[in-house]
Amino acid sequence: MCGIVAYTGYREAYPIVIKGLKRLEYRGYDSAGIALLNGGLNIYKKKGKVAELEKLLEEKKDELHSHTCMGHTRWATHGEPSDRNAHPHYSNSRGIAIIHNGIIENYEALKKDMQMRGHTFHSDTDSEVFIHLIEDVYENNQCSLEDAVRIALTMVVGAYAIVILSKDHPGQLIAARKGSPLVIGIGKDEFFMASDATPIIEYTNEVVYLNDFEIAIVKNNTLTIKNIEDKISTPYIQKLDLELDSIEKGGYPHFMLKEIFEQPKSITDCLRGRVKSASGHLMLGGIRQYANKLIHADRIIFVGCGTSWHAALVAEYIFEEFTRIPVEVEYASEFRYRNPIIHEGDVVIAISQSGETADTLAAIELAKAKGAIIFGVCNVVGSSIARASHEGAYLHAGPEIGVASTKAFTAQVTVLAMMAIMIAHKKGTITESRYQELLVDLEQLPSKIEKTLQLHKLVETISEEFKNARNFLYLGRGYNFPVALEGALKLKEISYIHAEGYPAAEMKHGPIALIDEEMPVVVIALQDSSYEKIVSNIQEVRARKGRIIAIVTEGEEQIRKIADFVIEVPRISEPLSPIISVIPLQLLSYYIAVMRGCNVDQPRNLAKSVTVE
Ligand code: M6R
Repeated sequence: MCGIVAYTGYREAYPIVIKGLKRLEYRGYDSAGIALLNGGLNIYKKKGKVAELEKLLEEKKDELHSHTCMGHTRWATHGEPSDRNAHPHYSNSRGIAIIHNGIIENYEALKKDMQMRGHTFHSDTDSEVFIHLIEDVYENNQCSLEDAVRIALTMVVGAYAIVILSKDHPGQLIAARKGSPLVIGIGKDEFFMASDATPIIEYTNEVVYLNDFEIAIVKNNTLTIKNIEDKISTPYIQKLDLELDSIEKGGYPHFMLKEIFEQPKSITDCLRGRVKSASGHLMLGGIRQYANKLIHADRIIFVGCGTSWHAALVAEYIFEEFTRIPVEVEYASEFRYRNPIIHEGDVVIAISQSGETADTLAAIELAKAKGAIIFGVCNVVGSSIARASHEGAYLHAGPEIGVASTKAFTAQVTVLAMMAIMIAHKKGTITESRYQELLVDLEQLPSKIEKTLQLHKLVETISEEFKNARNFLYLGRGYNFPVALEGALKLKEISYIHAEGYPAAEMKHGPIALIDEEMPVVVIALQDSSYEKIVSNIQEVRARKGRIIAIVTEGEEQIRKIADFVIEVPRISEPLSPIISVIPLQLLSYYIAVMRGCNVDQPRNLAKSVTVE
């Protein structure tokens, strides 16, 4: 939610910042802007995508020379997407500017106060209030700018990652974070600041992740980190293991398609070093000190949002079947505002691709405060949720940039399955032969995904047939009920077609009323323990003239006779089948969205990581 990037050093700053904004555009694309020091402190901003800003700046290229610059790409919260609400924002005197990711909850009260003190505002945003406040503190306390920022931080309620630029302090950048991510790249005689590492890795792999309530000051070519109490700390420099190729499209028209096709590799990477069926080895290296808490948990509570919540639903089936530990799955956004009952012996597993989702982060902080042990299942290494968890397991799926989550879902289910099988084996709740079988099945996942991806032409043809549908219904049972939800979510978010996912047996309790000859019904109908039942559900749809697209097991005969289209996927053991069955649904949503002319990687109203409530 909003991307921020800043640079100070010996190079021309604008090209670095504009390129960084393009890399961060998946975080928001309502408007974009930059501020730089080119004889004065000047802001240029524009409603729309980063390309619109770039077009505007094309004619002003000669003005843009500066060694210090910051930029922002916005996902609107307070104030409609417009030029005036775009960041950066000036302070009252126009001597300081801010870019902000997050929400200032007490902005109205602060704004009123500032207005009474003669400040004039030029936007409807909460962010503008922040910079007025900083300047007010600066002018009235006769302190340094960094102290003014620090004092102002104690007065705001909410979440923020900010960068501040001042006309009187060339070469200085001040940044701070609480609740929204911020990473600082350290080069030789140059510094970068950004919402994530993607704009930085081209220049340096040495980074410092800022913690909540920390302030970073770059001046005189030196980085200082202090906390809100003015206590200086030594920056903890990490070396990033991220390749530039992994954040580029690599010849694909969209990141989403690239990420769908990357799944054989992302699952291989996810399994690497963790599973070896020949020696009966299954180990998640990130779960050590607290492994016994998991093995002897009385209850496991999964928290997550969106696709990660769907992965948690699959995990509920897997964990209960293998480990016999009771499981609850919670929307993080609901869990955090209840007064959930957490007993000693309860374990919370937080699932998040980005590791930055505000609701998931808040849910785990709440559970932690109530004494729960937290395991994080994240993709982004060093992310806030990964750091706030006691232990966890990374997905190792590589950067996911398309707003619609695809390879993260399959990697989440893979990691959660490994976790469940590992616990079950340690607890003795699965037999040795079942354990062995599952290890072999895990190892076969990449080749079966590869085979499933070969169906892309068939899925494209089916998409052509249904691209103008106004509604879709997705049905599944058991392990594949969450896949129905996930398929519906994918279609909704990138093609704007209304879609509902249901457990197939629930259909007759209401949704069956929707079915007529206009209604495409996608049914996940694999040859598993629900097979006979789901065949009956397909018959019920057919009797009402619904148009059936069935995801079936290869070699399927019966459903072929009653469905309009069948997509045959490789046979795999039932608990792992969502990792395969979801792939045709990812492709279906992708092709339909492309055929409808939708912006697949940047769907309207959405952003990749939801770091605000
Ligand atoms: O980064 P997270 O996994 O925490 O994100 C959770 C959701 O915001 C995310 O899965 C969202 O629903 C995706 N756009 C789904 O494709």
